[in-house]
Amino acid sequence: MEIIIAKNQEEVSKIAASQIIKEINKKKCFVLGLATGDTPLDTYKELIKAYKNGKVDFKDVKTFNLDEYLNIGKNDVNSYNYYMHHNLFDHINIKSENIHLLSSDSKDFRNTAIKYDKLINENNGIDLQILGIGINGHIGFNEPDNKLLLDTHITDLAQKTLEQNSKFFPDIYKMPKQAITMGLGTIMRAKKILLLVTGERKAPVIAKCLRNNEINTDIPASTLLLHNNLTILLDEEAASIYLKEKKMKENENFNKKYPNYKREFNTA
Ligand code: F6R
Repeated sequence: MEIIIAKNQEEVSKIAASQIIKEINKKKCFVLGLATGDTPLDTYKELIKAYKNGKVDFKDVKTFNLDEYLNIGKNDVNSYNYYMHHNLFDHINIKSENIHLLSSDSKDFRNTAIKYDKLINENNGIDLQILGIGINGHIGFNEPDNKLLLDTHITDLAQKTLEQNSKFFPDIYKMPKQAITMGLGTIMRAKKILLLVTGERKAPVIAKCLRNNEINTDIPASTLLLHNNLTILLDEEAASIYLKEKKMKENENFNKKYPNYKREFNTA
């Protein structure tokens, strides 16, 4: 696992975009897993800029999105289908047949889910999966629970997720309460994972996720710690609690090892 701490959201987006471009340029038919939400918005802007400057070509890139709300029209401004077209696909040369979005209005979601995983497998899996993290530790819409599902599935959104995402809807009662999401097996089979974490509000959850070096189904993102090619890209605000705790641990370890040299690390 690699942890990169960048100055701010802008730097995170620049680093993320350059890593994505580097990976795309390495391989002819590239499969990119995409997330929505606030966090990757500037990364998508950087990708569009790079495309316009001839630094990356999406002609042979295939995409699979992580999730979608249930029963939301695909042209609804809050659908992830709309988000992806508006914030990325409409501005790059990706072929429409290479875009894979989970259907928000299917009559048979179970079948949709099975077909989605099958299609990802037929494309030899995801080469690079971009992820954000919810304030409750969810990835995709894999919500904290006593068990986590591996395959693409329908899920009830957690109360914290409803609160986190209701800002996009007229009010919390008008937002979908369910979603369809890639499961953790599908996500974990990606060859490389890039988790983007920005802003102060994500500091508690990422610190919790990295605190004890353990997997906890209450923090679905902790599953990622098992991945052998995981990069966590944080800005300083998101990293603040994690860094403070890390310094305190180093301090404790130092004082245990050298009891005669009491040393205080600056944890400010
Ligand atoms: C979105 C997704 C979610 C978000 C997470 C963070 O496709 O799968 O897991 O990544 O809720 O959202 P933001 O970036 O809005 O804080």
